[in-house]
Amino acid sequence: METVLETRSLCKTYIVNKRQNNVLKNIDLTIVKGEMVAVMGPSGSGKSTLLYCVSGMDRVTAGSVIFAGQEITALDDDRLAELRLNEMGFIFQQMYMMKNLTVLDNIILPAVKAKKIRESRKQTVERGLALMRRLGIGEVGSNDINEVSGGQLQRACICRSMINSPKMIFADEPTGALNRASSDDVMNELLSLNREGTTIMCVTHDPKVAAKCSRVLYIVDGGIVGEKITGHFEVGEKELRDRERDLNNWLIEQGW
Ligand SMILES: Nc1ncnc2c1ncn2[C@@H]1O[C@H](COP(=O)(O)OP(=O)(O)O)[C@@H](O)[C@H]1O
Ligand SMILES: [Mg+2]
Repeated sequence: METVLETRSLCKTYIVNKRQNNVLKNIDLTIVKGEMVAVMGPSGSGKSTLLYCVSGMDRVTAGSVIFAGQEITALDDDRLAELRLNEMGFIFQQMYMMKNLTVLDNIILPAVKAKKIRESRKQTVERGLALMRRLGIGEVGSNDINEVSGGQLQRACICRSMINSPKMIFADEPTGALNRASSDDVMNELLSLNREGTTIMCVTHDPKVAAKCSRVLYIVDGGIVGEKITGHFEVGEKELRDRERDLNNWLIEQGW
């Protein structure tokens, strides 16, 4: 099994007003290709910080992060930025879209910057539009980003995260701001990406979302205290409901 992401004794400490806050404590984690890992836990337990540290968005305080065989904790800023651009996709709550660009231009921006895939601008635009159609937002490409709904913007973020065909996608509560129907749509897209081979790590508060992942990690106070293999995601309605019930019981045991 090909390891995509590995952490060794990962620690992250923030210092605020001279007070030390040890947010992540010796995290050892291995994620293999094709997994879809949900990260759950109480608010403030360190879920977002973990996601930022393993995706190279933030620097770790101690320990290491190895992504696709490269120790990213040892890379300089330029090489790290390049790796992130080419091999990782991000779907974060604060959606970091450029306000002076259209939805489509935001989506294709990583491709324009990375040039990972050799193609003309026209081809890039065509790929961007194809992704938008796939996510059901084909009609809003030329809109400004403040001219679309929250659900559409979240789908645009997914398109952008996919544009460079990353090895792995990191998502921080990708469905957090959405209603149930939009949330299900967004999840189904992530699941189909996962089925096509993209490894995904996803912070979520929603047991329904987590039940569709292949593994759930439970974080309390900066440490992984529980882990549950949920199985494969392609199940029927009834099995999914059973799985949700099982996961809910497990979450209660974890102190959820
Ligand atoms: N940039 C930062 N500077 C200082 N403290 C931070 C920063 N980001 C997060 N923290 C602190 O780290 C802890 C974990 O936060 P976070 O990872 O956002 O939790 P979660 O995503 O599980 O709700 C909290 O105590 C938070 O206040
Ligand atoms: Mg968070």
